[in-house]
Amino acid sequence: MRRIFLFILPILIVVAGAFTLFGYFQVRFEEDKLIDDLKRKSKHVAEAMELSTRGVFVSKDMRNANYLVEKFEARERLQGCVLYDKDGNIIAITKRFNDWKEKDKPYLNDILSSKNPRGELEKFKDHTVYSYILPVTDDEGQVLGLVEVIYDTSYVLTRLTEIWKRISATLIILVIIIFIIAVFLHKQIFALPVQRLTEWFQHFQKGETDEAHPVKEKGELGKLASEVEQVALSLRVKRRTISDEAQVRLEKEETWTEIKLRDVVHAKLGENALFVVSNREPYMHVIDETTGAARCITPASGVVTALHPILCACGGTWIAHGAGNADRKFVNSKDKLGVPPEDNRYILKRIWLSKEEEDGYYYGFANEGLWPLCHNTHTRPIFREADWEIYKKVNQKFADGVLAELPAKNPFVFIQDYHFTLLGRIIKEKRPDATIALFWHIPWPTPESFLICPYRKEILDGMLGCDLIGFHVQSHCNNFLDTANRLLESRVDTEKFSVVRLDKETFIRAFPISVNGYMTGNIMEKDLTKQIEAIKSELDLEDKIIGIGVDRIDYTKGIIERVLAIDRFFEKYPEYKKKVVFMQLAAPSRIHIKRYHDLMSEIDELVEKKNWKHMDGAWKPIIYLKKHFSAEEIKPFYKMADFCIVSSLHDGMNLVAKEYVASKRDLAGALILSQFTGAARELTDAVQFNPYAIEEFTQAIKLTLEMPIDEKKKRMENMRRIITENNVYRWAGNIITELTALKKS
Ligand code: G6P
Repeated sequence: MRRIFLFILPILIVVAGAFTLFGYFQVRFEEDKLIDDLKRKSKHVAEAMELSTRGVFVSKDMRNANYLVEKFEARERLQGCVLYDKDGNIIAITKRFNDWKEKDKPYLNDILSSKNPRGELEKFKDHTVYSYILPVTDDEGQVLGLVEVIYDTSYVLTRLTEIWKRISATLIILVIIIFIIAVFLHKQIFALPVQRLTEWFQHFQKGETDEAHPVKEKGELGKLASEVEQVALSLRVKRRTISDEAQVRLEKEETWTEIKLRDVVHAKLGENALFVVSNREPYMHVIDETTGAARCITPASGVVTALHPILCACGGTWIAHGAGNADRKFVNSKDKLGVPPEDNRYILKRIWLSKEEEDGYYYGFANEGLWPLCHNTHTRPIFREADWEIYKKVNQKFADGVLAELPAKNPFVFIQDYHFTLLGRIIKEKRPDATIALFWHIPWPTPESFLICPYRKEILDGMLGCDLIGFHVQSHCNNFLDTANRLLESRVDTEKFSVVRLDKETFIRAFPISVNGYMTGNIMEKDLTKQIEAIKSELDLEDKIIGIGVDRIDYTKGIIERVLAIDRFFEKYPEYKKKVVFMQLAAPSRIHIKRYHDLMSEIDELVEKKNWKHMDGAWKPIIYLKKHFSAEEIKPFYKMADFCIVSSLHDGMNLVAKEYVASKRDLAGALILSQFTGAARELTDAVQFNPYAIEEFTQAIKLTLEMPIDEKKKRMENMRRIITENNVYRWAGNIITELTALKKS
C-alpha cells in the first residue's frame, strides 16, 4: 500500500495543483464578471435617477427626495440609495440604510470638485457593498448634488464559494478515481505477476520444477524466470556430476576427512540438502556488557562442537533457537544468516522463542526434567505439566520452522537431542517422504528410571516417528530398546535392532560422536606458543606441571569431586605443592535454574576454601577461570596442559576428552578420564577412575604424574589413532550411510 501511495502521490500533487490553479482563475474571472455587472447596473440606475433628482435638487423639496430614494430602492432592489446636496450633506437616504450616514466618506469632495462619477467596493459594518456615486449637474455644468446607489455584494461571495465547493468536490472524486485506477493497475501489472513469480520461485526452491508449477509469466518477469530456470538446470546437472564423481572417490578413500564426508553426502543424498535441528545454535550474537557492542560467540556445547565441522563440510541448513540477545540484528527477512560469519559455509535459521517458551521448554522440561532423568547423578527430575505443554508447543514451532524449509522431495532431517523428542513424529506426519534421524547426545536411562517421566509414552511415540535414533554407546541403545519394549505397545526386533510401532520401523544404532581431528586445526604453531607464553607468565605457571579441566558448570561434570580430589592429592602428597597447578576453565551454564545457580556458588566457595588451605606464597593449587571460552581460546590451554581431568559423574560421550587428545600433536600429555563417560569405552588408554571414589581419583592423578614419559606417549599415540580414525566425519558419514541403506532395504 505504501508503495502505491508513493507511486500516485506525485500524480495527485500535480492534479491537485492544476485544479487549484484552474479554480483560482475561474473564481477570479467569475468575480470580475459579477462586479462588472454590478457596476453596469449601478451606473444605469444612478443615471436613471439623475433626471428625477435634478428637480428635487433645484426645488430642495425634501419630501420628494425621500419619496424618490424609497421608490428607487424598492424598484431596483437596491440595498440603499442616498442623495447629497452640493456640499456633500445627505438630504435623503433610504430608511433601512440609515446607518450609512455614520460612515466617513472622504471621497465626496473629490467627486464634487472633479464632477466624475465613482464606483467602488466599500467596507460597511461586517460586509462589503458596492457604491456608485454620480454627480448631478445643471445645464451650465454646476453640481447640484450627488446620487448614490448601493448594492449588496454578498451574493458574489456566495457564488464564489459555490464555485470553490464544486471544484473541491470534483477534485476529491478525481483523486478517488485515480487511486482506484492506480491500485487496480498496480495489482494487475505488478503485484499479481510478482506474486505468481514468488510462488513459482518457492516451488522452484523446493525442487518442484515439474508440470504442476510451470512459469506463467510473460514479458520481462517471464524472461527473468526463464533465466533462473536455466541456472537451476545447470546446477542440477552439476550436482549430479559431483555426486557421481564423489561415488568414484569414495570407493578409493580410506580415512575420513572433510572431503570424504562431503563426497558421502553428495553420493548418498544427491540433490537432497541436509537439515540439522538443535536447540543450541552454532553462532550466537550477544551484547558485550563492557563495550555495549554486539559480538559473535560459539556456545559451549558438545552438539555444536560435533555438528559445526559437518555443516562446514557439506553445507545445508541448521535450524536452532536464536538465544543471543543481539541475534535478531543479524538475520535477514527469513530469520537466516550465512555462517561462519567470515566465510559462509552453511545457513543458520533462527527460531525465536518468547521468555515464557524458553522457561517452560528449555529451562523447565528439557533441563530440569529430561536432563536429570537421563543422567545418573541423583539430581531429582522435576516434571511440571505447564512445562510439558510449552515443550509440546515449542516442538511444534520448530517443526513448522523446519517444514517451511524442506524441498519438495525426500529431504534429510537430522534432529539433535532431548529438546526435540516430538519433532520426528510431527515432521513425519506432514512429510512421510522425509528421512529423519535423531541423535541423542546424552545417556539413555534404564526403563525403571524412564518410568518416572509422566509423559513417557508421548515422548517414546514422538521419537519413534524417526527412521533412525542414534546413541553414543551400545548400552544406551539397549536401554532404549528395553524402554520401548516395556513401556510402549511396540515390537522390538533384537536381530535388526529396531522398534516397530504402528507399522513404522525405527532403527536404533550406536554412533560414538567425535571431534574433527583438531590436530589439523588452522591456528599457527607460532601463535599458539606465543599465547602459551603469555598465559604462563600472567598466571605464574613457568616450570609448573599443569593440569586442565574444561567444562560447562554442570552437576553432571563432577567439578566438586575434582576439587575434592585435588585437595586430597595435596593433602596426601604435599611434595607436589608449588610444582603442580590445576586450571579449571568453567563456562557458566543454564544459570536460571536454581540447581545450576547453587552449584556455581558451591564451586566458588569450595575452590576458595581449598586454595586457602593449601596456598603457599604466590602458589595456589587451583586456578579457577569462570567465563565463556571460545574454541580458539581453549587451544593454548590444551596444548600447555600436562594432563587433563574429565571427571563426569555421567556423560553421553564427553568431547573435551577427545579434544584434548586430538590437540596433543607432540604426544606430551595424559588423560585422566571418568569411567562413567561414553568416551571411556573408546579411550581405554586414558587413566580411568570412579569420580565418586575420591581416594581412587587421587591415585589416578598421582599415577598420571608419575607415569614414565614413554608410556604416556604410547598411550597418547593409541588414543590419537582411535580419534583420527573415528573422527566426527566418520560419525556423520556412518549415520548418513546407515540411513540411506535402511531406506533402500
Ligand atoms: C549437552 C547437550 C547439548 C547442549 C549442551 C550445552 O552437551 O547434549 O544439547 O547444547 O549440553 O548445554 P546448553 O543447554 O547450554 O545448550
